[in-house]
Amino acid sequence: MSRPRILLTRRWPEAVERRLGELFDTTLNTDDHRMSADELRAALRDYDAVLPTVSDRLDSAVLAVEAPRARILANYGVGYSHIDIEAARARGLVVTNTPGVLTDCTADLALTLMLMVARRAGEGEREIRAGRWTGWRPTHLVGTRLGGKTLGIIGMGRIGQAVALRAQHGFGMKVVFQNRSRLAPERLGTLQATQLERVEDVLAQADFVSLHCPGGGANRHLMNAARLAAMKPGAFLINTARGDVVDEAALVEALQQGRLAGAGLDVFEDEPRVHPGLLALENVVLLPHLGSATRETREAMGMRVVDNLVAFFDGRQPPDQVG
Ligand code: DGY
Repeated sequence: MSRPRILLTRRWPEAVERRLGELFDTTLNTDDHRMSADELRAALRDYDAVLPTVSDRLDSAVLAVEAPRARILANYGVGYSHIDIEAARARGLVVTNTPGVLTDCTADLALTLMLMVARRAGEGEREIRAGRWTGWRPTHLVGTRLGGKTLGIIGMGRIGQAVALRAQHGFGMKVVFQNRSRLAPERLGTLQATQLERVEDVLAQADFVSLHCPGGGANRHLMNAARLAAMKPGAFLINTARGDVVDEAALVEALQQGRLAGAGLDVFEDEPRVHPGLLALENVVLLPHLGSATRETREAMGMRVVDNLVAFFDGRQPPDQVG
């Protein structure tokens, strides 16, 4: 029997590409370009499995392709708001993701952003590189400490909890959170955290707000102008979830007006474009979607996709089926 034909829309870690090549008739995107809608349509027509990432927009227009051969979208990444799940289901496509394996790395990056923005690390680095540093002085680049402050988590799933644990056990922060479903305290292990009813309740208390909910749907612009205005004056916003969870234009305005002390962002509304207003602000730390970017995690994500594909083509339910 011929091996399933699969297409990777981007370059993946070498070890994973090799493993996929052993198991399947594998086509790589050798120059790692971002695929156009037409290329994605062609992929759905020509391959049994398409393996997309967050940089591919698989909306209803792309998924409406005539006579697709593809039967599975095995996404490389935990977030899948770039895939229209309803449209995929309507075309009989199974969708899988890669949960669990990127929890710690993404949480580490959320803490990186919190520390960088609170301690003005980006500003300091830019100053040194520009040759503007004139030496130590008591009033130079004075920031804010994390210890004793309140962290507000929006979305207390795996990553939200990992951030909260680091913040509380590592930095002595108090934690409050909002989550769609009620979490029994025993689900939180050693974490002492208070669940609040509404996002606004968290915003009213938090010195740092860190977003960990999925993007798309009802969460688009969850942090809109009204919610940004409901944050404590001088608070910080951290986003390692999805760019569209924050109304970027409203965030720029809140920062320009000095209502917020700063923001640490790893994700953006229209990646790789970054709002020019953000680029112009000193009190914003900007990272290019690095949440899961460690060798260990990127390989583990790929191997998770391998498991999902092997199960699917063996006729079993993939372990990480989301649609
Ligand atoms: C994820 O896994 O969701 C990362 O953001 C990359 O897509």
